[in-house]
Amino acid sequence: MIILATRAHATSLAAIHAASFPPRDAWGTDAIQLQLALPGVFGLTDERGGMLIGRIAAEDAEVLTLAVVPAARRQGIAGRLLQKAKALAVSRGGSALFLEVATSNAAALALYRREGFVEVGRRRRYYADGSDALVMRATLL
Ligand SMILES: CC(C)(COP(=O)(O)OP(=O)(O)OC[C@H]1O[C@@H](n2cnc3c(N)ncnc32)[C@H](O)[C@@H]1OP(=O)(O)O)[C@@H](O)C(=O)NCCC(=O)NCCS
Repeated sequence: MIILATRAHATSLAAIHAASFPPRDAWGTDAIQLQLALPGVFGLTDERGGMLIGRIAAEDAEVLTLAVVPAARRQGIAGRLLQKAKALAVSRGGSALFLEVATSNAAALALYRREGFVEVGRRRRYYADGSDALVMRATLL
């Protein structure tokens, strides 16, 4: 089940993030608490080990981070988190959902394409390892 995450969930969101990303990219509890306190920022979590943090600003919404622990992957959790984020954005007046993804992240790219995201831009050498980011957008109805 996916629920809205509050600052009280920050520790469990951080644990999911740490299990999903290399240490230098992991978001700690404090960072997540700070994010969730910002205007327009929301968190979603699936108790099986998934989390998404997003932001809604006027008509544009953005996925700031998305992670599913390795043991819970390929069960549709990330897809459902994205669908919830879209529904939440629509309910708050959003008309598009954006995100950035490393060109080397084949799993995430496959997921996002399947969920209706299309490439709308590229940020060169965006990540610390020098790889590019693709900017992707999904239209919300
Ligand atoms: C990317 C990530 C969030 C996907 O989570 P997930 O819960 O396993 O994704 P889902 O089960 O919802 O996958 C939905 C579809 O996406 C595609 N997909 C997901 N992982 C894939 C992989 N490793 N290889 C190829 N396609 C993949 C498939 O089309 C999949 O459908 P299928 O399982 O029926 O084939 C997860 O692998 C993860 O946390 N990775 C590390 C962190 C990360 O890269 N986050 C995104 C940063 S932009």
